Amino acid sequence: MKKYTLNVFPGPEETCLAAAEAFVDVARQAITRKGSFAVALSGGHTPRRMYEFLTQESLRLQVDWSKVLFFWGDERPVPPNHAESNYRMAQESLLTPLGISETQIFRMEADQLDKNLAAQQYQNVLMEKLGKTAGGDGAALDLVLLGLGDDAHTASLFPATPALLETIRWVVCNPVLKLESERLTLTPMFINRSAHVFFLVTGESKANAVKEVLEGSIDTQRLPAQLIHPADGKLVWFVDEAAGSGLKR
Ligand code: 6PG
Repeated sequence: MKKYTLNVFPGPEETCLAAAEAFVDVARQAITRKGSFAVALSGGHTPRRMYEFLTQESLRLQVDWSKVLFFWGDERPVPPNHAESNYRMAQESLLTPLGISETQIFRMEADQLDKNLAAQQYQNVLMEKLGKTAGGDGAALDLVLLGLGDDAHTASLFPATPALLETIRWVVCNPVLKLESERLTLTPMFINRSAHVFFLVTGESKANAVKEVLEGSIDTQRLPAQLIHPADGKLVWFVDEAAGSGLKR
């Protein structure tokens, strides 16, 4: 496994708080340096508590949220008000409480009928908002937040799915047979251009996946999270003791 920082905390609360504090640090640095901060939010359940910490005064007041652009790492094929929507979870726990303007929020429209078109459109939005040429040279997010499934998937990069092999596009529609679904996801190559990538993983159910990804042999088709190692960026794992219980380190 390429270079990464591993932070282990007693439980989910401490882990989510630490990730929220690190989010604030990276956001402040980016805004000070270039006047903006572009982040791709993670879906699933784990990040909700982290997002709630960000809305609490002690952290909320440290960031000029008007300078933050919100993207997603992946999205399910459901409308924005659906219980399974990653967009809805972030709206409820982070964006609405912070009063973020719609002009700063870029939803992945995985509920569109033509999901390949939706993926291309999202890539165009990223290119436009990250202010880079059509070739996208150098275009990158400041931070990508990721979770980890117990099958070692991350974003919607599931084992043995086509998106794992994508080397050109930044966003793709990825068929996930085990879920009998198609999801939109950022690709490994685009995630790996980010300045920072945070994995936030808690709970006993993830222990084997964490152990295999970080300390097992390299097998990216079976362990997609092993594809994530930002070329020039920082990779940081925020893990609680339960999820890290299988690690030798
Ligand atoms: C999603 C996420 C996915 C998630 C993991 C962990 O859309 O589901 O992007 O990659 O991070 O499945 O999910 P939990 O946090 O719910 O365990």
